[in-house]
Amino acid sequence: MNIREVKVTEVGPRDGFQSEKTILKTEDKIDIINNLIEAGFPRIEVSSFVSPKAIPQLADAESILSKVNRSSKTTLAALVPNSRGALRAVEAKLDQIVVFLSASESHNKKNVNRSVDESLQGFREIADIAGKNNIPIQGDIATAFGCPFEGNISPKKLADISKEYEQMGFKGVTLGDTTGMATPVVVKDAIKSIRDKVPGFDITLHFHNTRGVGLANVMTGLNEGITDYESCFGGMGGCPFAPNATGNICSEDLIYLLHEMGIKTGIDLDKIISVAKKVENLVGHKLPGQVMRAGHRLLSYSMDEVPTAVGA
Ligand code: COA
Ligand code: ZN
Repeated sequence: MNIREVKVTEVGPRDGFQSEKTILKTEDKIDIINNLIEAGFPRIEVSSFVSPKAIPQLADAESILSKVNRSSKTTLAALVPNSRGALRAVEAKLDQIVVFLSASESHNKKNVNRSVDESLQGFREIADIAGKNNIPIQGDIATAFGCPFEGNISPKKLADISKEYEQMGFKGVTLGDTTGMATPVVVKDAIKSIRDKVPGFDITLHFHNTRGVGLANVMTGLNEGITDYESCFGGMGGCPFAPNATGNICSEDLIYLLHEMGIKTGIDLDKIISVAKKVENLVGHKLPGQVMRAGHRLLSYSMDEVPTAVGA
């Protein structure tokens, strides 16, 4: 592996907050996003322009975009499910639209109430609106490494959808592991299949740590030369329309790992640890992040603070 630099997208304000029961104050979300921009993230998913009936937590996407301190160094992206969402995104001056469908028909039906083909049809309308307004599009595939209703997803299906995305002029494809079903073997097969059918198309990996192998999957991605990853502060996250969907891989844990391997991200680890602690206070429950608690590996303690084992 000779990767020197990786692009990490923070998806906390979207994936992290979307299934949080207590509706957070818009001003608190704006403060968090401003902190993320200051921490140096090159890309942040700030919200979703979906139906507020589907995701009440993200009904304030417009207010957020109008008030955050934008920086030329950070791309602000958000999910868009239909033309109505695309028009809202244009109005809000979003930097990048993220369209999304699920590789499996059953989860697509649960999440956006339509078939995969109907989703692709709808994306053409979104691409039309985005094109006229010079907004680039990233195409997500949810349940890419397994579906909680249908089981395995064929790598060919991922390649076929990626081909459609390329033909619609999208920037790249994000493979989303909605319920943490990815393993290193599954990830490797998916990447190979897409590269064979759509050579040169950018692949971003979005893992959830539901079964504890999130960072092992990142290592697989790195070994395959993938340089784009998505993660969430404190390891929050999850889709409300999938059973047992738990947190994304944790941003601080991922950034810690990358920096310790000599891979640059441009993100300040201490700042993202502070964000994770702030969010934990805001939501009022413990987050699964680990580096936010343990700190750097060379953090040194005073010997006086620790009891000595006597009689050993
Ligand atoms: N923004 C705001 N409101 C929207 C909207 C959008 N982009 N799209 C639809 N709506 C509103 C409609 O006006 C309608 O409201 P009404 O009941 O007051 O008339 C309602 O939402 C339902 O609209 P409809 O077009 O019938 O869609 P649907 O019920 O088939 O739902 C989606 C389809 C895609 C809009 C909805 O399922 C959705 O937003 N899903 C997002 C799920 C998600 O974000 N999951 C997590 C990310 S993986
Ligand atoms: Zn996710």
